[in-house]
Amino acid sequence: MVNDMDLLEVERIRKGLGQSIFSTNIVFHRSLNSTNILAKELATKGAPEGTIVVTEEQTKGMGRMGRRWFSPGYVNLLFSLLLYPNIKPDRIFVLTMTLALAAIEAIKEMSGLTPMIKWPNDLYVDRRKLAGILAEFSLSRGRIEYVILGLGLNVNWNPNDEADVTNPATSILQETGLKLSRNDLLAGILRLFEDYYRDVLAGNIDDFYKRWNDLSLIMGQEVEIQSAKERMRGTALRIDKKGALVIKDNHGKEQKIISGDVSVRF
Ligand code: BTN
Repeated sequence: MVNDMDLLEVERIRKGLGQSIFSTNIVFHRSLNSTNILAKELATKGAPEGTIVVTEEQTKGMGRMGRRWFSPGYVNLLFSLLLYPNIKPDRIFVLTMTLALAAIEAIKEMSGLTPMIKWPNDLYVDRRKLAGILAEFSLSRGRIEYVILGLGLNVNWNPNDEADVTNPATSILQETGLKLSRNDLLAGILRLFEDYYRDVLAGNIDDFYKRWNDLSLIMGQEVEIQSAKERMRGTALRIDKKGALVIKDNHGKEQKIISGDVSVRF
């Protein structure tokens, strides 16, 4: 049920979560610079595992590769999770992947829409961006100190009002005509993610790779990848166990790409 204004409410989120690591410390502010920034500060002060930071609007929303994340206030989901996972640092990618899968599953359950994943962790509907994940972490002597997973998901926004032709955005409302309760959607994503998180900690990750590859928008497509150093072209083949994108380049050679921006050559 959507409350009149569909405002985010800690008690509703907590109720939707039930017994959960994410219901113990829900930090809500109507406005913040960035939920990732506050989550990092809380991590350095020893906030508990499963702390969630959630807000209605951000004045300095951050995207990957130094970009900004734009979202109007009071219509979308903007939150960060704080985790202290006892896993190898090269498994951090699996965490972002499982958050993307949990979001897809919850969106599908509540609206019937099935977004796809654009490597590394954006959710798309066709060529329109629905959500993005920003993972940040701290390592000390090869061990993870903390991981922050920040998700920005367009829910009840009408992006056409602020159309950006080169980077089109979409929302659940725009795709389905449905206005969802953001409190319920957030709780739904976190309930699923908690199960997946336990699997990741237990090392049960093979199924996630399969689902991730199955839901990947770019597999088999001609892609162009812009990384910090270079631009590459080829056919996207798969995502490997470390989350790298494997492509076949124009000389028929397999290349692994650890990070970058992908565009599909439609
Ligand atoms: C991307 O697509 O580049 C990632 C976008 C991540 C945006 C979310 S919104 C909540 C959290 N706080 C931030 O400042 N960024 C992430």
